[in-house]
Amino acid sequence: MEFNQLLMKRRSCRAFESAPVAEEQIEAILQAGCWAPSPLNLQPWEFIVITDSDIKKRVKEAGEKAKNEVIAAGGPGWVKKYSADFVQDAPLLIAVVFDPGKGGLGTFFGQSYGALQATSACVQNMMLKASELGLESLWFTFFRPDELAPVFNIPEKFEIAGVIALGKPAEEIKAPPRRTPVFYRERYGVLKE
Ligand SMILES: Cc1cc2nc3c(=O)[nH]c(=O)nc-3n(C[C@H](O)[C@H](O)[C@H](O)COP(=O)(O)O)c2cc1C
Repeated sequence: MEFNQLLMKRRSCRAFESAPVAEEQIEAILQAGCWAPSPLNLQPWEFIVITDSDIKKRVKEAGEKAKNEVIAAGGPGWVKKYSADFVQDAPLLIAVVFDPGKGGLGTFFGQSYGALQATSACVQNMMLKASELGLESLWFTFFRPDELAPVFNIPEKFEIAGVIALGKPAEEIKAPPRRTPVFYRERYGVLKE
């Protein structure tokens, strides 16, 4: 598929068909993730591939708990209508975890984002690959990571970059609008003459 077409086709999907994702497709998605750049090529990411309905249910419950916290804290009204059911309905979840210690040289001067930045690039690669394969995805982060770490049995040093829900979209998804690029010349705030 032409690159720009793929970029614009990928959509966050919140309604999935139940058909399982083929093993070759899962492998292709994980491989695509691993071609992301990372500081010192440390590749801080690891993956947990989930099809078990009990684990999916626990992810959904962590989402519901987070939602209730947001409501109780006076979050935006639309959150009441937000449903994390798709997390349970998706045929596949991939939890993407990373070792924050693999952040490259930045870790020596207090710049702690390297591993998360790399893992975010990895997730984007995975989502684009999934879209190319006729699947769609949702980068799910609406949960307290400490709720899910024990569910996935993640060793203490790892952090969760997200849980990616994947499957065939159950309906057509409208593209949310994009801002035109906001950019300056040489210094912030300086527009082209
Ligand atoms: C880091 C990150 C976290 C996100 N977390 C959630 C989430 O927890 N739940 C959700 O429904 N969508 C989540 N999204 C999806 C965004 O809402 C979505 O990307 C945005 O609305 C643009 O739509 P598009 O991905 O179809 O272009 C997340 C996206 C990113 C990049």
